[in-house]
Amino acid sequence: MKKPLMAGNWKMNKTIAESVSFVRMLKTAVSDVKDIEVLICPTFICVNAVYNEVKGSNINVGAQDLFWEEKGSFTGEVSAFMLKDAGCSYVLVGHSERRQHFGEVDKTVNKKVKAALLNDIVPIVCVGETLREREENTTFKVIEKQVKESLPDLSQEEASKLVIAYEPVWAIGTGKTATPQQAQEVHAFIRERYSQLYKDAADNVRILYGGSVKPDNISELMKQPDIDGGLVGGASLEVESFVKLVKHSKN
Ligand code: PGA
Repeated sequence: MKKPLMAGNWKMNKTIAESVSFVRMLKTAVSDVKDIEVLICPTFICVNAVYNEVKGSNINVGAQDLFWEEKGSFTGEVSAFMLKDAGCSYVLVGHSERRQHFGEVDKTVNKKVKAALLNDIVPIVCVGETLREREENTTFKVIEKQVKESLPDLSQEEASKLVIAYEPVWAIGTGKTATPQQAQEVHAFIRERYSQLYKDAADNVRILYGGSVKPDNISELMKQPDIDGGLVGGASLEVESFVKLVKHSKN
């Protein structure tokens, strides 16, 4: 049985003090939640402070990116090994903002996925089409390429541990959510294509939806058979709305 996951992606927001105070409140508010996994992904410099605050609770900590080498002369980078040491159990990989602004491509996503898994960190691999690609009817082609090229060469066991996030780029931070039907259609497609790569893992792999997820659209999204949780930007920045997402996302 897949346990749904509600992940907050804070992007480049919150100081250390703000991050710690947020999770202190969140910890109390979700202490009774058992049937859904809760994850917060703060900036690199806040990861350890957040981890120290939530240690022993039901809140997991993740990073927003990583570099695939373990250590060495890679100025500005942080490795999976270091993230593990700082308390991360998850890491986002290939978020569309990394692809758009920082030159992330499927090949580097794959290296990062492998480095994360090697260090016992669950990668959340983001895929999604732009508005132009949707309008040109190439959504499925784009998604298929991203799935096949960012996720090759894994064992069936590794393949069932990772998480995929479908985030249509046109829905991120725009207030435009994919309809539950549009999202379900792509989620089912991702699962089907993933099963061509990893037959035994596809049924169990969790596929999150991301893109303007809010308390008022979460329950319809979560009713879809292939939606196993949410990856949330804007609505994860306030304790109240994030708690609503966690509590309303029960199937
Ligand atoms: P959003 O961001 O919820 O603000 O649309 C989602 C994301 O980028 O992960």
